[in-house]
Amino acid sequence: MFSSKTKQGDGENRLEVIAKSDFLVYAENRGMNKKTIKDVPIKGKRVLMRVDFNVPLNKGLKIEDDTRITAALPTIKYAVDNGARLILMSHLGRPKGADDSLRMDPVAKRLSELLGKKVTKLNDCIGDEVQKAVSGMKDGDVVLLENLRFHVEEEKNDTNFAKELASLGEIYVNDAFGTAHRAHASTEGVTKYIKICVAGFLLAKEMEYFDKALSNPPKPFVAILGGVKISDKIMVIENLMKKVDAILIGGGMAYTFLKAHGMEIGSSKLEADKIDVAKSIMRKAKQLGVKLILPVDHLIADKVDAVSNTRVVTDVVPQGWMAVDIGPKTVDEFKKELRNAKMIIWNGPLGVFEITKFSRGTEDVARFITGLKAISIIGGGDTAAAIARFGLEHAMTHISTGGGASLEYMEGKVLPGVAALNDR
Ligand code: 3PG
Repeated sequence: MFSSKTKQGDGENRLEVIAKSDFLVYAENRGMNKKTIKDVPIKGKRVLMRVDFNVPLNKGLKIEDDTRITAALPTIKYAVDNGARLILMSHLGRPKGADDSLRMDPVAKRLSELLGKKVTKLNDCIGDEVQKAVSGMKDGDVVLLENLRFHVEEEKNDTNFAKELASLGEIYVNDAFGTAHRAHASTEGVTKYIKICVAGFLLAKEMEYFDKALSNPPKPFVAILGGVKISDKIMVIENLMKKVDAILIGGGMAYTFLKAHGMEIGSSKLEADKIDVAKSIMRKAKQLGVKLILPVDHLIADKVDAVSNTRVVTDVVPQGWMAVDIGPKTVDEFKKELRNAKMIIWNGPLGVFEITKFSRGTEDVARFITGLKAISIIGGGDTAAAIARFGLEHAMTHISTGGGASLEYMEGKVLPGVAALNDR
């Protein structure tokens, strides 16, 4: 992945390759302080595995992006190859009770294709039918339960519901990093009723990447933060400020900072009640000696639409216009900071990347990173979607499968789904 973009044979670059390989080996093999599926004998055991198969579905039928299914495959294959009786469970979407458009059938079909083996999809996740199907399983069989959120008890972390889920397995594996920030019955409650609770490989890998980045990052360490709202990122900024050398800010959230500086921002995104927060963040950054770099030019549009008038401005966004992307001078400023970075963490797109003519800033910065030797860690959700849209997903060191989970981890929070697993 990274070696293809690094010149071989050159002394200095070679060292960088080794350093980066070491990091990856550390991240993938060291394992976190939680036990993983490799630490427990699973042959012939009923393994209840929480995965995050919350994939985008078109009209309840077609999976538009199967990244989350492929990301869980190593753990699933390991369990099957080692003779476990594998019971998979996940939520899909945010139903409040049963919803035919959010059944797990398309997921079971895709998983079965990827595994090259039958995946039996059940019509519920608890109850007699499920118990019966599970008790008839043979070593190496795979069952996928129906959408957990068809039962409102899942999100309530209901004790009885958690106990019913727990009764299905002898060993619990959590490989759902994307849902690890939720204390739900299938991520947290269930662990009270199964003794052996361990991490899958995806969850362990995600934790190691973020852990290494946040606890012992190679320096210079640069964070890129974007997205629409400053209110979503305040805690991330506060936490990262203690660790990074520079924070590059783009996206809609930049305009509350710029307003706090006194700039006229037209109809750009503003959280007026967060202007004081922005001022305080800028003050703290100064005290800590962290560079906080805001856009110096802006692509503005008269509406957020592919059919709109656009231009680039530097100091004033006129009334009736709004900033939709960072401008070319800002891209250059960001590149200057990124050029020497050894570690980059990125959460939030720098413009309205879903509209091609507003995606240039995000794409230019992403492409630039792929040419660097730095370790690049990309938060899930919109940032991952943007990187995938540019076809750069294989050129980054790590792209998280968790949007909300990676954000909460970057805020310095404990993820309940991880905390509940057995320590080493
Ligand atoms: C996600 O897509 O971020 C996870 O699957 C969690 O989903 P949720 O935000 O609906 O809990």
